[in-house]
Amino acid sequence: MPTFAFLSICAVPFLWVFLRAICSLIFDKNYFGADPGMELVTFFGQAAIVFLFITLSFSHLRRPSKNLAVPRMRRILGLSVFFYATLHLVSYLIFLAGLEFEKYYHDLLTKQRIILGSLAYFFLFLLAATSIDSAARNLGRAWVYLHRSVYLIAGLVVFHVFLSAKENFSFAVFLLCAYLALLGLGLSKAWRRSKSRTPIFKA
Ligand code: HEM
Repeated sequence: MPTFAFLSICAVPFLWVFLRAICSLIFDKNYFGADPGMELVTFFGQAAIVFLFITLSFSHLRRPSKNLAVPRMRRILGLSVFFYATLHLVSYLIFLAGLEFEKYYHDLLTKQRIILGSLAYFFLFLLAATSIDSAARNLGRAWVYLHRSVYLIAGLVVFHVFLSAKENFSFAVFLLCAYLALLGLGLSKAWRRSKSRTPIFKA
């Protein structure tokens, strides 16, 4: 699939919010529900986690040799996760914390879900900052280990969503099941890889 078409698909959630904002301005009507701030925080959070899980699933696709499209698409997906997580954080800071950073620090010190979300965001930032080819070349094996932390990020976000869910836990339970399935696949792949590398000595 051409890069531009793939980028356009990843931009759909952002364009949807943009379109609703434009319609709200033109028709002087609220298209963001009773609590627009919370609607944006939730929407961007959900977009980030959906892209995160698609990125994790991508790692399990069989890669045809010499096909560079899969790594390129995975990078675009990973950067989309970071993009939507940043919009999620920015909407939280603007609409829920009222741009008062003390409020964020207070939440960070007192609410476990904000600690987990912030930790996940910190690791996402590291992955996004090292996603360019030169970083991969310079970091060598460290880059591989760093980018495997995507499973840790997903785990942190699943708990973040569990603690954020107020009454309806179905989304959180669905994410937990998907996470455990992907983690299981990842671990079995790593185990098979390590087994094929172990030399077998016969007596
Ligand atoms: C600095 C980091 C983060 C902060 C401050 C933050 C803050 C929040 C807040 C305030 C909520 C609303 C629920 C509540 O108040 O209890 C929420 C929910 C959520 N967040 Fe985050 N978050 C962060 C990081 C992340 C990251 C990195 C992701 C995904 C990659 C994410 C995905 C979600 C999702 C999916 C929800 C649940 C939406 C729903 O109710 O369905 N968050 N977050």
